[in-house]
Amino acid sequence: IPKLKLSGMEKAMPVIGMGTASFPMADLETTKAAVLEAIKAGYRHFDTAFAYGSETALGQAVVEALRLGLIESRSDLFITTKLWASFTDPSQIVPACKMSLQNLKVEYVDMYLIHWPVRLTEMVRKTPVPVEIVKPLDIKGAWKGMEECVNLGLTKGIGVSNFSIKTLDQLLSTAKIPPTLNQVEMNPYWQQKKLREFCKERGVHVTAYSPLGANNTKWGDDRILGNEVLADIAKARGKTTAQVALRWVYEQGVSIASKSFNKERMAQNLQIFDWCLSDQDLQKISQLPQAKGVTLASILGPHPLVLEIDADL
Ligand code: A2P
Repeated sequence: IPKLKLSGMEKAMPVIGMGTASFPMADLETTKAAVLEAIKAGYRHFDTAFAYGSETALGQAVVEALRLGLIESRSDLFITTKLWASFTDPSQIVPACKMSLQNLKVEYVDMYLIHWPVRLTEMVRKTPVPVEIVKPLDIKGAWKGMEECVNLGLTKGIGVSNFSIKTLDQLLSTAKIPPTLNQVEMNPYWQQKKLREFCKERGVHVTAYSPLGANNTKWGDDRILGNEVLADIAKARGKTTAQVALRWVYEQGVSIASKSFNKERMAQNLQIFDWCLSDQDLQKISQLPQAKGVTLASILGPHPLVLEIDADL
């Protein structure tokens, strides 16, 4: 798996990370087994979040992988986790990061991201959340908390997720430590051209989530894996539709967080580095109609501030 050198980061990041969010949420043993299988398949980059409820399983899998000798040390892995919106008050950020480290049973993560540009004044598990707890994010204050996590050695790098050009621009104007990356939905159906151009100009790397359209989850569908244009390209190259979508993302210079808990599909998703798409393929993909799949409204409810965030993304 090729690795990327990111600004401000000593350790290079493998361009494909294994996602660990599943729907409905898999139990601990299932997630743990999937992570171990992924390590065996060669994955060294794992993407989790407090909100996914998969930090503990990932942590246990890492301990097990070390015990089994599948990896030599914790530092063989690149681990990303995310700050949930209920902990974005500046005073809560360092404790929230420490809580994630405790779940993960590691001394540091490689990347800590602000999960969404929003603040929830309470921790609520039931959705939709009550409208009165949805508040704007104090970007400047929150980022200071993130920088403190770096200064304390809790994380090697910091970044954001689901940040629009506007929000990222505000952050860049106050950050002492610039965000290393912005993890956003990106796939042939939501190509994020403008955001990618902006990020390139400003030295922020982009990571794609839902590169396969998050099929079979509450927040995704089969618009990628069931797409005929992509299927035709795949057929002509002797590849799968999933591989075409992942290869397309990779060719845009974007890294990938993609989830599979299935051994064959995990392996299949790594077979994208020894072939390429033709100009004609790229042309066809560039003409696909665009539609955003993941919305914050589908997670928190259609509250005015939430709809505003979705409209910007
Ligand atoms: P599974 O875990 O059963 O493999 P995304 O990466 O866009 O979030 O998509 C994840 C979804 O796509 C999961 O439901 C996953 O299911 C499925 N998936 C992952 N890889 C493949 C593949 N190569 N072919 C078909 N479905 C896949």
